[in-house]
Amino acid sequence: MAKPISENVHSVLILHGPNLNLLGQREPSIYGSESLDDINGRLTEAAVGTGVSVSCFQSNHEGELIDRIQKAGRDGVGFIVINPAAYTHTSVAIRDALAGLSIPFIEVHISNIHTRESFRHKSYLSDIAVGTICGLGSRGYDLALAYVLLRGKE
Ligand code: DQA
Repeated sequence: MAKPISENVHSVLILHGPNLNLLGQREPSIYGSESLDDINGRLTEAAVGTGVSVSCFQSNHEGELIDRIQKAGRDGVGFIVINPAAYTHTSVAIRDALAGLSIPFIEVHISNIHTRESFRHKSYLSDIAVGTICGLGSRGYDLALAYVLLRGKE
C-alpha cells in the first residue's frame, strides 16, 4: 500500500540510482541529451518560492542509496522522487528501506521500461509507490515534482 501524502511537505528528496550520473553521454537515444546536473538544476529551480526545498542525490551504490533513504526518514523529508535505475529490477533492499519509512514516493523512469527487455518489466517498488511515471523522458521528474507541489495547494 502506498503511504498517504501529507499536505505539509516542506522538503522533497530526488534520488537517482546507478549510471544516471552519465545522463547525456549514456545511450542518448534512450535517455536523452540532458545531464543529471541539468535535470537537478531544473527541479531545484521549480521549487523556488514554493516553500518546499528540493535536495538531490545520486549514487552507483545500493548501500549509499539505502543510507540516504534512512537519513530522509530521520530528517523529516516529506516526499521522495526516485529513479532507482537498474536497482528497480533487483533490489529488495531498496524496497525494504522505502517500505520501512512513512515517506510516500513516486517512481520515475526516463524510458518506458515496459517496452524494453522483459527483465525491465519487473519493479520491486511500483506496488508500494504513490505512482509511477515512465517513458516521458527526463520530464517525468518534473511531473512528479509538480504533483507534490500541487498537492501542497489542495
Ligand atoms: C531507467 C530504466 C532502467 O531499466 C535502467 O536500468 C536505468 C534507467 C530509466 O530511467 O529509464 O538505468 O530507470
